[in-house]
This record gives sequence, structure tokens and C-alpha cells, in this order.
Amino acid sequence: MSSSAEPILELKKVEKQVRGPFGCLRILKGIDLIVPRGQFLAVTGPSGSGKTTLLEILGCLSRPSSGDYLLGGRSVAKASSNELADLRASSIGFVFQSFNLLARLTARQNVELPLAYQGVPTAERQARALDALSAVGLESRADHPTPAMSGGERQRVAIARAIVGRPPLLLADEPTGNLDAANGAQILQLLSSLPVGRRTLIMVTHDPQVAARADRIMELRDGEFVAERCE
Ligand SMILES: Nc1ncnc2c1ncn2[C@@H]1O[C@H](COP(=O)(O)OP(=O)(O)OP(=O)(O)O)[C@@H](O)[C@H]1O
Ligand SMILES: [Mg+2]
Repeated sequence: MSSSAEPILELKKVEKQVRGPFGCLRILKGIDLIVPRGQFLAVTGPSGSGKTTLLEILGCLSRPSSGDYLLGGRSVAKASSNELADLRASSIGFVFQSFNLLARLTARQNVELPLAYQGVPTAERQARALDALSAVGLESRADHPTPAMSGGERQRVAIARAIVGRPPLLLADEPTGNLDAANGAQILQLLSSLPVGRRTLIMVTHDPQVAARADRIMELRDGEFVAERCE
């Protein structure tokens, strides 16, 4: 059993290195981070500072080269690929800058996908997908093909897909990066006001509007945290 006082995640001296044409490149240089449950954390920093690399580790899409990552109190830094896939399905929702929806599926079918991977029966899957679409204000567009939707609508479908499995951790990598100011503001409003209970939200963003909404803002520079601000 995990207690509510236990942080949802903790990074301990996390390093990420990749082999490049000119030798080993250190992308993350010993990141320490504790995120309490329910926090809205914004991560900022210049292009190339390691924000996406950090989010990929937090989202169990890649492993640290060294250091430890505890998710829900459990060390996942050395988990197998299958274990990481299970963790992603049960615990993590993703929202990407480029939406990453499947064009040949309708909005509802896209939202159902994570539940299909978890083996949720068809009728329950359809009902939960409609609930999630209604949470983002799109229940009337459930049967529309996503390529016919606007950027803002597509990102709302992606948010519905990220929350339909009720993951305790929601990760968003520049979710407003491909949207105009009005749609971006609407997506930020939506992400920060979802009825999430104790859900934790970590968002990479260049958007100054996020500063007004996040509980905590951390700035990455060249693979290290250089500044932190709590509201
Ligand atoms: N697989 C890889 N192989 C080589 N270099 C990589 C790899 N992944 C990332 N990098 C490099 O690591 C650095 C950090 O990349 P990352 O994508 O995490 O930055 P970012 O902060 O998300 O930037 P942006 O704001 O442009 O999205 C960059 O210099 C990038 O080129
Ligand atoms: Mg990035």
C-alpha cells in the first residue's frame, strides 16, 4: 500500500547519456527531483536543455543511464521493457505537442485505444471514452474522424485519450506548441482544471501563461535544474 504522503515520483542523480558522432553526450547531468502527489509542475528551459529527454524518463519511455527513478515508491530505473510498458498503461497519460492521434480512427476510437490495450471490454470502453470526451467538451464530435478536426479539438481528443485510463500521472510535452494563442489558452485551462483528484501533472512548456497556474516551476539548462519557483 502506498501512503498519501509518499511522493508520486522521485529522481535520484539521474543521468542520461547517448553516444554521438563526437563521443558520449551527457544530456541529463544528475537530476534530483521529488514530486508530491497532486502537484502541477511546469518544466521550462531553452531548446536542447533536456526537457523532452527528462519527460521520456518520467514517462517510462526510456531509462536513465545511471541514477534511480522511483514511481509510486517502486524503482523503475532497471525495469524490463515489458514492465515499463505495463507501468505506462496503468499509471501514465501522455499529451504531445503534435497530438499523435491515429488519422484513420474516429475521436472515440482514438480515446478507446489505451483501454483496448488494457483489455477493457467493448461496452465499458465505449462508455468510458464518451465520458472522457465529454470531460473535454467533445462528446458531440465523438464519431468524427480526427483529421477533420481543428488543432485545438485534436489536442482535446489527445487529452481525453490521456485521462481515459485514469492514470495518477499526466505528462504533457509542449501541449500548446502547435496551437494559436486562443486555442493554447483553452488547452491550458482544460489541463489545469480537469477534475483530477490527486492526479499529478507535469508539463513542459514555453508558455508564460502556465506560470500563473502551476504550483511549481523548474527551469532546466544544459541538463541541470538551475532555478525553481513555488507559488
Ligand atoms: N537520441 C539522441 N541522440 C543524440 N542526441 C540526442 C538524443 N536525444 C536528445 N539528444 C540531444 O539532447 C539534447 C536535449 O534534447 P531534448 O529533446 O531533451 O531537448 P528539449 O529541451 O526538449 O528541446 P526543445 O525545446 O527543442 O524540444 C539536444 O541537444 C538533443 O539534440
Ligand atoms: Mg522537447
